[in-house]
Amino acid sequence: MNTPLHDRTAPTEHPVLDILAARWSPRAFDADRPIDEARLATALEAARWSPSANNVQPWRFIVARRGTALHAQIVDALMGFNQAWAGNASALIVAVAETETADGTPITHAVYDLGQAVAHFSVQAHHDGLAVHQMSGFDPEVIREFADLEPRFAALTVIAVGEFGDVDSLPEVLREREVAPRVRRPIDETVILSA
Ligand SMILES: Cc1cc2nc3c(=O)[nH]c(=O)nc-3n(C[C@H](O)[C@H](O)[C@H](O)COP(=O)(O)O)c2cc1C
Repeated sequence: MNTPLHDRTAPTEHPVLDILAARWSPRAFDADRPIDEARLATALEAARWSPSANNVQPWRFIVARRGTALHAQIVDALMGFNQAWAGNASALIVAVAETETADGTPITHAVYDLGQAVAHFSVQAHHDGLAVHQMSGFDPEVIREFADLEPRFAALTVIAVGEFGDVDSLPEVLREREVAPRVRRPIDETVILSA
């Protein structure tokens, strides 16, 4: 199992679960090691057991291992600022929302539910020592085309998953981001009504 090569633990205002503070979104991936299938399966299992409105489970995943044509197709769909690093990840996963049922009924909470499933995926994966980085910087229509997605399905994020890599191997501009302080809006500006 791998661990981040530098500590990025969140400076939380209040104590949270260790794994939630420790999770972060790295850009440095080990380009040599293949995906650990057991840990990948476990992370997908965590996603599968996340809650959803009416238990509709409006999530689907496209899973591509590095070295496959599918992985290369997903890399091609990424914006340049993501292509610069994400192709090194052992796996790229497309998170797909089912926005309507087969009979055309809107699934109103599909995007919410998919996000929560990916959150569970990311926490489980990070707990198990896998690096996870979600991306919205890609062309969903490119993915729709090669994956033959029906209009009722929407590719919302691409998730880079793999072993942590060496930050010093990144181009300087990316390396700076990788070591920049982690910041969040304060809680008292986040809770907008409280009684
Ligand atoms: C839906 C979503 C889309 C994102 N898109 C990108 C992206 O295209 N490129 C990128 O480098 N990071 C992307 N990120 C990562 C965020 O920038 C990152 O989660 C945020 O800065 C907080 O950092 P942390 O995850 O390390 O705590 C995305 C994250 C999410 C949840």
